[in-house]
Amino acid sequence: MIKVRVPATTANIGPGFDAFGMAFQLYNIFSFEERDNGKLTIRGVERRYQGKSNLVYKAMLKVFNRVHYRPKGIYIYTDVNIPVSRGLGSSAACIVGGLVGANTLCGAPLTGKELFDMAVEMEGHPDNVAPAMFGGLVVSLGLKEDNHYIKKEVSQCFEFYGLIPDFTLSTMEARKALPKKVFHKDAVFNVSRATMTYLALTEGRPDILKVSVEDKLHQPYREGLIAHYGEVSKKARELGALNTCISGAGPTILAITTRDNDQFYMKMGKYLKEKLPGWTLLKLEPDNTGVCTDQHS
Ligand code: HSE
Repeated sequence: MIKVRVPATTANIGPGFDAFGMAFQLYNIFSFEERDNGKLTIRGVERRYQGKSNLVYKAMLKVFNRVHYRPKGIYIYTDVNIPVSRGLGSSAACIVGGLVGANTLCGAPLTGKELFDMAVEMEGHPDNVAPAMFGGLVVSLGLKEDNHYIKKEVSQCFEFYGLIPDFTLSTMEARKALPKKVFHKDAVFNVSRATMTYLALTEGRPDILKVSVEDKLHQPYREGLIAHYGEVSKKARELGALNTCISGAGPTILAITTRDNDQFYMKMGKYLKEKLPGWTLLKLEPDNTGVCTDQHS
């Protein structure tokens, strides 16, 4: 039995659209076994996800086809902790879990970089799969079959919170809301803010993060898809968040505070409980490990 643990991830972090991602200590754990029964058995998920269209299995097939490996039967058990379709990288976790699990089952013929390139191809953009694989804060450069990334650890001076709605938003729908063209001044707006956000997160500059997490490339087009976005973000800032942004394609809102803000969790939790009882508040500790495997005989 092979166990593969994959972290949840946030993407974009405001201005870093399709480039920035970060991993958190919230994990999906996939168990894999090759069996002699000639069957595909998937457990731990709803019945409709137990067939060949299962994303974890599709990722496994990519590896098997690449290395010409023909397993007799496959057993997959999925322990899902990452909220699905909420902008916390659940699909990236399935892709990375399937690729790494299948590669381990075959005796690890593919390198981490090869698996990363395959993950980007499956997901369509690198910003969630990169931190899911490597952990930390990752900037990636998607170049079709040869993707690049740089991983850094986030400064200890920040804390991260997911304000998770009780409704889903598909990435496809959230990407459809984006315009085909943007104004030059909007692109310029993002360049400086993305660079400053990266430096603020890695060098521990709350003063910069407070003003740099702003975006004109995707958030203005997506906020309307997230009910209560404006009021929840405003409240989070009033309660001490340095800044907020849409986590990935949404609908989760990511709030960033300084580490010494011990009141935020309690006050934000109280606000959500009273005003939006379906929403969940999760404290998200950074993960600097990325995907990891554990093999039992
Ligand atoms: N960068 C992607 C987006 C992340 O915002 O559409 C979603 O997976």
